[in-house]
Amino acid sequence: MKHKTIIEPFKIKMVETIQMTTQQQRKKYLKEANFNPFMLKSDKVIIDFLTDSGTSAMSSEQWAGIMRGDESYAGARSWEKMRDVIHDLTGFQYIIPTHQGRAAESILFTLLGGTDKVFISNTHFDTTRANIEYSGATAIDCIISEGKIPSSTYPFKGNMNIDLLEQNIRKHGPENIGAVILTVTNNSGGGQPVSMQNVRDVQAICRKYDILYLLDSCRIAENSYFIALREEKYKKWTYRDIATEMFSLADGTIMSAKKDGLVNMGGFIALKNKEMADACTNLLIIREGFATYGGLSGRDMEAISRGLVEVFDKDYLHYRIRSTTYLGDKLLDMGVPIVRPVGGHAVYVDAKAFYPHIPVEHYPGQALVCELYIHGGIRSVEIGSVMFGKYDVSGNLIPAEMELVRLAIPRRVYTQSHIDYVIETFGFVKEHKENASGFRITYESEFLRHFTAHFEQIKSN
Ligand code: F0G
Repeated sequence: MKHKTIIEPFKIKMVETIQMTTQQQRKKYLKEANFNPFMLKSDKVIIDFLTDSGTSAMSSEQWAGIMRGDESYAGARSWEKMRDVIHDLTGFQYIIPTHQGRAAESILFTLLGGTDKVFISNTHFDTTRANIEYSGATAIDCIISEGKIPSSTYPFKGNMNIDLLEQNIRKHGPENIGAVILTVTNNSGGGQPVSMQNVRDVQAICRKYDILYLLDSCRIAENSYFIALREEKYKKWTYRDIATEMFSLADGTIMSAKKDGLVNMGGFIALKNKEMADACTNLLIIREGFATYGGLSGRDMEAISRGLVEVFDKDYLHYRIRSTTYLGDKLLDMGVPIVRPVGGHAVYVDAKAFYPHIPVEHYPGQALVCELYIHGGIRSVEIGSVMFGKYDVSGNLIPAEMELVRLAIPRRVYTQSHIDYVIETFGFVKEHKENASGFRITYESEFLRHFTAHFEQIKSN
């Protein structure tokens, strides 16, 4: 029999209480948080879809590993285990442990960056871009045009635009390109996958111009699932073999293990080139810790070693992607506009299309984020003009390209009934959507304002 019900391929051994709240209470909490869910205490949230990063539930095997962690400063057993697992998976010889993804970025781009350098990616994630720009270098995104159209159902919307990549290399000169970074899946572009063909095409260009080619691999297991699903040639491959093949085409990788590493903290750099790895290790020792632990405890390294194996389990990945797709499909069925096709780790709602009566200057994404919290205690994040908006010289808003709300799903944390609860909440929010009103910002910081901004609701008459 073929079952339709999605079941979690795990049993629950330990539970964490969710504090249930009433709508009345949530209205008060949201007001106290100045209508910015980043300022909410987590125990006032029922379903936390703020991020899939560092929020995974660990398995009993990972917890058992935690007890076995070797906390020696140098040459820890747990380090050897983590190093070997990463080496086997990626094929890269030199592994550098860091406490999370941006620490890896900071080390690598300090070395590769600088004022004359240019980095090219499908889409740079915010911290990647920030670390590149902080070094004085320039970050350029070259996503295919389908990747910018929320309603396009192209199967690999995370792909790099190869022509644009080559044009940019010629324009800036191959000697000035610090690296080409392919982000798999493409988080900032809707969690969309990159095809193996594209990984290969980017390699060919990098070889042609002798440019360093890196993967940002924090969601590579989810990307591998999509390759097996949508690229004929890889239909029968294991997800892990697909990932290994992707790594084999690149010169190195940076990974935040807080995503597909299934851990709460951790990351690494893995490289082919010894000289580059030695230079990274020197910086690592200054900034993060000794070469055999980076910023990690022995127990963290045990958890990563195990997580990087578990994430490629076929039943786990099947459930993971089906569950995210289920949420997206149900929202589509009820007429909620979302970025299509549904990506791996999150569903992105097009708030501008959902609330056509709220102008972008009044932040429709923030309005949806607040409605979801008030009616369901669901915490999500605006990825639109609150996050990326700028002002022109007269102080008018230059809006972001899209007004999205991201529902990022923590791994192995919520059950199908939690997902159904979210769908039900959307039903209510949609039914009452003309009552939703926009916001104005009453306080903002100069950088990364979305984390700390205060808002005031614009009451309609
Ligand atoms: N690269 C990508 C593609 C990411 O999504 C992230 C983090 C990082 C690098 C940085 O890793 O957080 O360990 O320092 N993304 C999180 C998110 C924060 O919510 O999407 P980190």
